[in-house]
Amino acid sequence: MGEGAKGYNSALVRTLLGEQQAHPPIWLMRQAGRHLPEYRELRAKNKSFLDFCYAPAAAAEATLQPVRRYPVDAAIIFSDILVVPHALGRDVRFAEGEGPLLTPLEGAADVAKLDMSRLETRLAPVYEALERVRAAMDGDRALIGFAGAPWTLATYMIQGRGGERDLARAFAYQNPELVDDLLAILADAIGQHLIAQVKAGANALQIFESWAEDIPGHLFARLVTKPIKQAVDVVRAVYPDVPIIGFPRGAGHRVGQFHSQTTVQGVGLDIAADLGAARTALGPKVCLQGNLDPMALMAGGAALEQAVDAILAAAATGPHIFNLGHGVVPATPIANVDYVMRRVKGLT
Ligand code: CP3
Repeated sequence: MGEGAKGYNSALVRTLLGEQQAHPPIWLMRQAGRHLPEYRELRAKNKSFLDFCYAPAAAAEATLQPVRRYPVDAAIIFSDILVVPHALGRDVRFAEGEGPLLTPLEGAADVAKLDMSRLETRLAPVYEALERVRAAMDGDRALIGFAGAPWTLATYMIQGRGGERDLARAFAYQNPELVDDLLAILADAIGQHLIAQVKAGANALQIFESWAEDIPGHLFARLVTKPIKQAVDVVRAVYPDVPIIGFPRGAGHRVGQFHSQTTVQGVGLDIAADLGAARTALGPKVCLQGNLDPMALMAGGAALEQAVDAILAAAATGPHIFNLGHGVVPATPIANVDYVMRRVKGLT
């Protein structure tokens, strides 16, 4: 969707394209989720998390809940990064209290079975949810579509669960060609998924590389930036202007390399990343996103005020989207989120 589409001229999109605002636009990773009582109520009615993601009306409602409650500049579609491996035919489950569980990929036969042909059909409910959200929201607010980056998805697919990443890296050393093939397939699938989200009304895209940490320098291009660039190129062949944010969690010390090799318009910073150093590395034109500690947001008080003000000051020399360095945690008081919204918008 391009010029003329609802949301294309929103503050978030303009900031990503390099236009600094008097007050940075704001949205929060996991702004839809368990810190909201209305989400917990909706979640209780949708027992299976994946079925919830594939129910367009429920997913649209979850996406819109934080938009009703907070003056956020963007909604992010309620979905999950693991819908892509699921749509490629892998077994994905969400176990209560355990997070995601996948049947681990074992070898070439499993990679050969990944089936791109069903991707868009299986993910059609996600695109319908995007259409519903875009229709319900005014054009001042952007709608963000997203996907997991190839290496993050590959890690889940190889290990079968979150947390430990060592086995996935060992697998990449032991099976270099197979892992390169897997990353290329995933980059293509992610690119197609992002294109379909733009077609359904997304104004900007975020690629979550949640597991960019612990990657040796000599593997960073091969596992992280090259596959992301492949996905970015797939998107840009169809939508050359839609802005893309890359979030290399755990690799804040490599933002210069990450930005130049992926060519994303915006770089998301994690909790530990240094905003000032990222600005120095990337210059005054590249949009930075982040990076309030979700624990400061949960804690509130004077510490929260100081943390917000320090981020605003450190990012003030160029385009910035205010966000967390990771997702909102369930115990976060709504009053603290309200406070951050007002502070960032200069209202308190
Ligand atoms: O508001 C938003 O940010 C949009 C929705 C969104 C979800 N997951 C919903 C969700 C987004 C952008 C994601 C991305 C995602 N999912 C990532 C990348 C970001 C990151 O955290 O690094 C990852 C690694 C996943 C995989 C995943 N999904 C995990 C590890 C978990 C379990 C953790 C938890 O909080 O329970 C999920 C489940 C999940 N995805 C929930 C939500 C709201 C919780 C489900 C519930 O309500 O029980």
